[in-house]
Amino acid sequence: MAGHDLRVAIAGLGAASNLVLPAFDGIEGVRLAAGCDTREQARAGFAAKYGLPVYDTIEALSAAPDIDAIWIETPNHLHCEHSVIVARGGKHVICAKPVGVTIEECDRMIAAARDNGVHLMQGHAKTFDPPIEAMSRLVATGELGAPVHVETILYNDWLQRPRLAEELDSAKGGGIVLRQGPHQIDIVRRIVGSRVTGLRAYTGRHDPNFATEGNYTAHLEFENGATAYVGFNGYGFFDSNELAWNIGVYGKISAPGYAAQRRTGVLYPKEKYADGAKGAPAMSGIFGDKQPFFGVTILSCERGVVRQSPDGLFVYDTNGCREIPLPKNPGRAAELIELRDALRENRRAFPDGEWGRATLGVCLGIVQSSAKKTDVRFD
Ligand SMILES: NC(=O)c1ccc[n+]([C@@H]2O[C@H](COP(=O)([O-])OP(=O)(O)OC[C@H]3O[C@@H](n4cnc5c(N)ncnc54)[C@H](O)[C@@H]3O)[C@@H](O)[C@H]2O)c1
Repeated sequence: MAGHDLRVAIAGLGAASNLVLPAFDGIEGVRLAAGCDTREQARAGFAAKYGLPVYDTIEALSAAPDIDAIWIETPNHLHCEHSVIVARGGKHVICAKPVGVTIEECDRMIAAARDNGVHLMQGHAKTFDPPIEAMSRLVATGELGAPVHVETILYNDWLQRPRLAEELDSAKGGGIVLRQGPHQIDIVRRIVGSRVTGLRAYTGRHDPNFATEGNYTAHLEFENGATAYVGFNGYGFFDSNELAWNIGVYGKISAPGYAAQRRTGVLYPKEKYADGAKGAPAMSGIFGDKQPFFGVTILSCERGVVRQSPDGLFVYDTNGCREIPLPKNPGRAAELIELRDALRENRRAFPDGEWGRATLGVCLGIVQSSAKKTDVRFD
């Protein structure tokens, strides 16, 4: 990309692309270059809105000229296949979490990126949320002593949203452990700044309409001696935004969402994508001006405790409580800026495929620990 903008295409023009497309607005040195989807309606919507080329297969997109990187937002079970095709096409890969759905898939993706001299980044990383980065920096400076414990909990209606069968099929990378777990595992790994060495977890399937997990809890141990607790409940009876000034995952204040009507099953693609606007996502309005709250996250260190405030962090220590304001959430611009800068500075991009592999390993460990009713070790 020497001498020109980083030209990024998006593969998969569904719900997640709504979060990525607004990010292209005004990033110096980065621009949207093309879209790709198997659905005609999505391609037509994208072409009409952006006036850019659209492709109907990942192979055609990967072979297209004037594209430097492809952001993959296709379903989880296609991440590996698509990333390998993109890497072989000589284009950098930003792949939505989870990077792959098995460790073997992650290994193949990492190898394809290495062999073709391109970056493989994990996209949609909560590691870029300003409060998470700031807690991570506080731990790294040692200002409050060593990290003791982090907890992060989220209650929402994940299981009550429109879902295709594959999104709820754990074997295909569906269900909340593989769809939402990576966010919470990224949060605690980023803050603690150490390797996960073991865990004990419990998952539950308590919605009779769906043969997939609706909740999990896990205790994690880290190499540096810290511990973490992650808890997720997606049944839709309670919204943990209520514990965070009604601020949601995109920093917007809104009334907590409750699922008044229960879904009774999965949707067919025709139903899920019935909304004609799906292929032409809005460029604004998704992100609010508060900090993003992926539920509630509290960090405990030897000499203080830290939690999120609406605009930054609250730090509690022997001097009382002080607030650290933080810069505006960059949203998904963060991954684009990181890839741009890694290319300019000729360094690795973060979070890379290895990071995504480790996060997936913990998520798979949660499933395994619960199924076998044992600790899982990563020593
Ligand atoms: N929904 C969210 O809020 C959200 C947020 C962050 C990350 N993600 C991640 O984004 C990815 C997609 O999830 P989603 O919720 O957008 O799903 P979605 O079903 O809304 O969108 C997926 C899109 O991929 C397209 N597609 C399917 N097969 C394809 C193929 N072979 N080639 C090209 N396009 C293809 C579909 O037609 C659809 O438009 C997942 O990995 C998910 O974990 C989702």
